[in-house]
Order: sequence, then C-alpha cells, then structure tokens
Amino acid sequence: MEALRIYTEKPYCLRGEVTISGAKNAVLPAIAACLLTEDRVELTNVPLVKDVHTMLTLVSELGATYHLDEGYKTLNLEVKKIKSTQAPYKLVRAMRASILVLGPLLARSGRATVALPGGCAIGTRPVDLHISGLQKLGANLKIEHGYIIAEAERLKGAEIELEKKTVTGTENLVMAACLARGETILKNCALEPEVVSLCELLVKMGAKIDGIGEETLRITGARQLGGVKHRIIPDRIETGTFMVASALTGGDLVLKEVEPQHVEAITNKLVIAGSQVEQSDRNILRVKGSEEIKPLDITTAPYPGFPTDMQAQFMVLMTQANGRSIITETIFDRRFSHANELLRLGACIEIEGDKAIIKGKTPLSGAEVMATDLRASACLVLAGLIATGQTTINEIEHLDRGYEKIEEKLRQLGVKIERFINNNNNNYKKAEVKS
Ligand code: UD1
Repeated sequence: MEALRIYTEKPYCLRGEVTISGAKNAVLPAIAACLLTEDRVELTNVPLVKDVHTMLTLVSELGATYHLDEGYKTLNLEVKKIKSTQAPYKLVRAMRASILVLGPLLARSGRATVALPGGCAIGTRPVDLHISGLQKLGANLKIEHGYIIAEAERLKGAEIELEKKTVTGTENLVMAACLARGETILKNCALEPEVVSLCELLVKMGAKIDGIGEETLRITGARQLGGVKHRIIPDRIETGTFMVASALTGGDLVLKEVEPQHVEAITNKLVIAGSQVEQSDRNILRVKGSEEIKPLDITTAPYPGFPTDMQAQFMVLMTQANGRSIITETIFDRRFSHANELLRLGACIEIEGDKAIIKGKTPLSGAEVMATDLRASACLVLAGLIATGQTTINEIEHLDRGYEKIEEKLRQLGVKIERFINNNNNNYKKAEVKS
C-alpha cells in the first residue's frame, strides 16, 4: 500500500504553470479500438497512468504487440492476429473500462469472453446496455461463471436506442458496429468529448460514422479498418482538478495544453463561486481564485452537464465557501465516500440520499485519510492543500490509475508532498521520488 503525505504549515496559495496530460478516458477506448484492425495504430499524447498499463496488459493477452515511448508519450500498437478472446477477471476487476474490449473483440474475431466487472466503490455499475446493444447487433450472449460469453459470425447493423446515456456503452457499440454488416443507427448516445474523439479515430481508420457529436450516430459497417495516427485529447478531469486547486487556494494557475470548451460546465461553476477564468490562448486557461468563495448548487449530469468525475473535488471547494452548498449526484449511487474522509479533516457535510449538503466555511486540519476511488483520492489531495499540518492519504494507488505525475506537478507549484510505502502496520517508509 502506498500513501501520500502533504505538509501544510499554512494553507497553500498555488501559483505557476501546469501542463495537462492526455485524457485517460480517451486513451482507453482508443487502445481497445486497435483490436479492430491488423494494421499499426500510433497514439500520441498518451498519459502515463496505471490504467493505460492495465489496458496494455489486457490487449497484449489478446494478441497486441506494442511499444510505449514514455519520453514522447507515443504508443505504437499492432494486433496482427487475435491470439485469445478472453478478458480475465483479474484485469477487469482492476479496471472496469476493460469492458471496452468486448465490442471490438467480438466484431473482429466473432467471439469474446469478458469477465463481468462486478461491484465497485462508486456504486452499482451494470453493463446491461452494452449486452443488450450487442444482442441487437446479432450477437448470441450468455453469462456463465461470471463471464459474458458473446458469439456472432458477423454482426449485423441494427437500430438501437440506449435507455440511458452510457459512455463506455456507446463506445463499445460504435466500435462493434464499425465492422458489422450494413447500417447501425445508435440513438441516445453519450456526447462526452472522449466518445467524439473515439469516433474521430474510427473515421480515420476508415469507418463511416455520421452524426459525430450528436445523440444519434449512423454507422455503416466495413469489412476491415486500417492503421492510423491519432492524438489523445487533453484530460478534462485533470484540467478541472487543477482549476479547483487554484480556486480553493486563492491561487493563480496557468493550465497549458487544455481544451477550454470541454471544461465549460466546470468553468461556469467556478465563476459563480467567485474565481476568474480566462482563456489566454487556444489551449491555455488561467484560473485565479478569490478571497471569498461563494456557495454553489451542483447537479451532476451527462456531458455537457456537470461531470460526476468532478463532484468530489468541488465538495472540498464548498467546505471553504461562505454558506450552504448542495451537490446532487444523479449518475452513480454511493458516490459520496469521500465525504466521510472530509469529515475527519473537520468538514461539515450531511448526506441525504443523492444529496450532499456542505456547510462552510470550516477550517480543515490534517489527518490520516483513506482514498476509496480515483476521484475521491483527488479530492483528498486537494483537501491536503488547505488542511493545516500533515494530511496522509492512504491507498493512493487509486490516484495513480488516472493522474499522471500529480506529485511532481504539485511539487513544481511549491507543495511539500511525499510518497510513502505503508506496510499495513502503519509503518511509513519513504518511497523513491518518481520523476
Ligand atoms: C465513464 C467514465 C467514468 C465516468 C462515467 C460517467 C470511462 C472509462 N469512464 O464510465 O469516468 O464517471 O463515464 O461520466 O470513460 N449504466 C447502466 N447500464 C449500462 C451502462 C451504464 O445502467 O449498461 C448506467 C450507470 O450505472 C450509470 C450511468 O449509466 O448510472 C452512466 O454510466 P456510464 O456512462 O456507462 O459510465 P462508464 O462508461 O462506466
């Protein structure tokens, strides 16, 4: 187990520049899409995060060979032949997004056996819409011994209306439809920038997709797709996390290599809270925090609404707002585990069903806390920036899944932060500095 410790003599005021990495949620479907072709795919601006390595381990088991140039953040990947059609439980459990191989594997090789993801720290996350969509495309699916077993000689285009907006569900079905016979009309698609980016990648590979960025996609299947070079879009959640870091600490951060349009919902809320957000160049945002933070009401929603993946970070911000804020979480149930940890630092938060009521402003004081999922970890790191004394965040492995070099980025802004190895008896041993 690893832990991060933040030393805060007095609350930080972050100033400086941060370069935002490529989006984790865009690179994972892009890697899965490589299963659709025997040609080489080159991805650039690849974030060096643990989930990428997990996905690469998975696609290697399925037959991919790859070279990841960590200096240039470039991934070259090739799946000449599908070697295995099975995504094992140990990998799917480590990362739910492994389900993204289901559609492409089935479409390319006629068979896919993918472990059911099962429970997860942020509540129930079924994959029924992935399954019923693939059935509509003509797949025979059964669930046996915890695995989805899917078969189809060649998928057939169909009209599918998704009951609910699902990001990876849309991605799985679009990828599968690209190799299906005939036309697929996919309605009520997720509009997240990562879905759009995947569609753009598939079009470059030779797929025919109309309506990209809209709720209805029309996909005309092809016999095969080809190789491509594609740049991964900036991570809008990492961008948002640093935007909150600036707002929370009354700081002044310049965020480089961002896509301002993708963070509009976040920008709008920060402006209401009193921050100034300026776009000084095409890919640069400057966020200046204010002395007084105003309370906010936030309801999470599918894109372009306020992202559920930013809810935890905003909760910390609201502990410092003058007044009562309410967060309503509509995407996932049980996604408030970070609230209990914030209480340990001195926050005043009540949970009522899908709502968190945060009363501010309460000073936070450092304590030992536990990261329960990826975005909850980010929330606790942010809290550590203003909690006086030492904040030790245990089980920080969650953070490594999706934030590239967060310690280094924070250290460059003057934060005193160290990584420890915790041997479970609460003996903390300093870890080597990662660079
Ligand atoms: C993706 C993101 C995750 C983000 C989430 C919501 C990736 C790798 N992960 O997760 O970071 O928090 O979108 O923006 O991109 N649902 C069903 N049946 C299904 C599928 C989904 O009922 O078959 C429900 C879910 O329980 C949830 C809602 O639909 O309530 C949205 O989930 P979904 O968009 O599928 O989330 P993920 O794609 O898993």
